Amino acid sequence: MKNIMLIGFMATGKSAVARGICREYQMELVEMDEEIEKKEGRKISDIFEEDGEAYFRELETAFLRGINEKENQVVSCGGGVVLRRENVELMKQNGAVVLLKASPETILERVKRNHNRPLLEGNKNIAFIKKMMDERKDKYLEAADIIIATDGKGVKAICREIMSKVENNKRKN
Ligand code: S3P
Repeated sequence: MKNIMLIGFMATGKSAVARGICREYQMELVEMDEEIEKKEGRKISDIFEEDGEAYFRELETAFLRGINEKENQVVSCGGGVVLRRENVELMKQNGAVVLLKASPETILERVKRNHNRPLLEGNKNIAFIKKMMDERKDKYLEAADIIIATDGKGVKAICREIMSKVENNKRKN
């Protein structure tokens, strides 16, 4: 099995779904944000505060360049990874790119009490989330090989849906 690259807006459930797939299908879990934090020795929020978003985007690209040549991984990517064309190409070289979608209402509910997403700090409302999603929408859709709507579904069902679509895609290619 090649890798599965999970993409999607913040709090669409990438991490929970990545853990679910790894548990059920014996794949290796890779949390992109965590790997970046480990490498930098500081939190994402500190990276944004101290060096800015552009620097963080460089770190994302460097991370993706480094995961080449490994297989059987589920990579839970940061929500903004699609913003750079180069990242999308690197992801596609590494496996199936799976987009998780959720409504702004679901996302707001999940991020309300968290403080680990600098881009949403002070902006936790439907209008802002909707606007940011709209701005990114085309990039998510262009990057995706497979699209999964997650609202109202449990993690297990989402994992199964992903694996059956990944299998189908392989047959087609
Ligand atoms: C970001 C998403 C975050 C994290 C950073 C920026 C984004 O990851 O990489 O805060 O630009 O959408 P999650 O999608 O895991 O929250």
